[in-house]
Amino acid sequence: SAAEKGGHASFMLKEIAEQPKAVADTLLGRIDAEGSLTLDEVRIPAHELRETDKVVIVACGTAFHAGLIAKYAIEHWTRIPCEVELASEFRYRDPILDQRSLVIAISQSGETMDTLMAVRHAREQGSKVLAICNTNGSTIPRESDAVLYTHAGPEVAVASTKAFLTQLVACYLVALYLGQVRGTKWGDEIRAVIRDLAGIGQAVERVLGTMEPVRELARSLAGQDTVLFLGRHVGYPVALEGALKLKELAYMHAEGFAAGELKHGPIALIEEGLPVVVVVPSPRGRSVLHDKLVSNIQEIRARGARTVVIAEEGDETVTPYADHLVRIPATPTLLQPLVATVPLQVFACELATARGNEVDQPRNLAKSVTVE
Ligand code: AGP
Repeated sequence: SAAEKGGHASFMLKEIAEQPKAVADTLLGRIDAEGSLTLDEVRIPAHELRETDKVVIVACGTAFHAGLIAKYAIEHWTRIPCEVELASEFRYRDPILDQRSLVIAISQSGETMDTLMAVRHAREQGSKVLAICNTNGSTIPRESDAVLYTHAGPEVAVASTKAFLTQLVACYLVALYLGQVRGTKWGDEIRAVIRDLAGIGQAVERVLGTMEPVRELARSLAGQDTVLFLGRHVGYPVALEGALKLKELAYMHAEGFAAGELKHGPIALIEEGLPVVVVVPSPRGRSVLHDKLVSNIQEIRARGARTVVIAEEGDETVTPYADHLVRIPATPTLLQPLVATVPLQVFACELATARGNEVDQPRNLAKSVTVE
């Protein structure tokens, strides 16, 4: 009913709007007054986390994209090697696991059969499994050694939005916690990131307040067949997520690419008028990557692409090459997905609506996939 949707036209729009609160709730009670993490709920003893020599993340769909982003954070902050794998591929290739591997299973529902099977396989090999899950008492957390719950609240729309943002927050918390427990040389950076995370809900709120031009753009693209998404570093999984949202909701051909791969093939797809959404890294931090992305935008635009550029506020270098410019607040590089994903969710939702699709219940899809 309309009341259940809190005045929004769909559950998806309601859930997109709830993201600042979902993010704040997922941080709540997990950072103490001194700015350290208190994740007592992660019932894996600190000495075991100190001995962990490999992290393996398993998940499906949107949760897998959260895992891809987590890898950048985990390896940077903890220096522990991290692999990310689709849960449906994992156990069938006989992965190398032992007691020193920490397996992180990410699932909104906690009932995804592929992910559950990966959890069981990991535990049979003696690995510790930490679930990141949004549903209290569901099967995956019950079968794991420990769980860190995301506090997104119930997610009704089939397309995952607020659960994804909170999965990212939970992944950052786990990465930072591993760093904290192991006393990595990134101590100062870790403290700074914890402070930045505390302000990220407000940044998401600001993005939500500026979405009208994105909606307009989406409506203007309703007749297109294909939309491509490009990103690099953590912007690459964001591009994959933007493409997945568009497939599920708008039933359009959409693909995400790592921008550095363009010249290895995908650039052949560029033709006059093709919409390409580009997620630009911050010009601060890893500025080399920023500059490479800007040349990618020039290259595709020279070949006729209609560029939709998602870039940090104040980044003027992109302005001449953007047919459409979407501004996001400045964040530390690793946290950018929390703000960069939001316009892509709004874009897909609006495009789907413009094409006459039912956004909460896309065709052929179920909210949780409980078969293999
Ligand atoms: C996301 O929009 C999808 N509907 C889907 O990819 C989903 O993320 C995937 O099925 C995993 O679900 P889970 O998080 O409940 O395990």
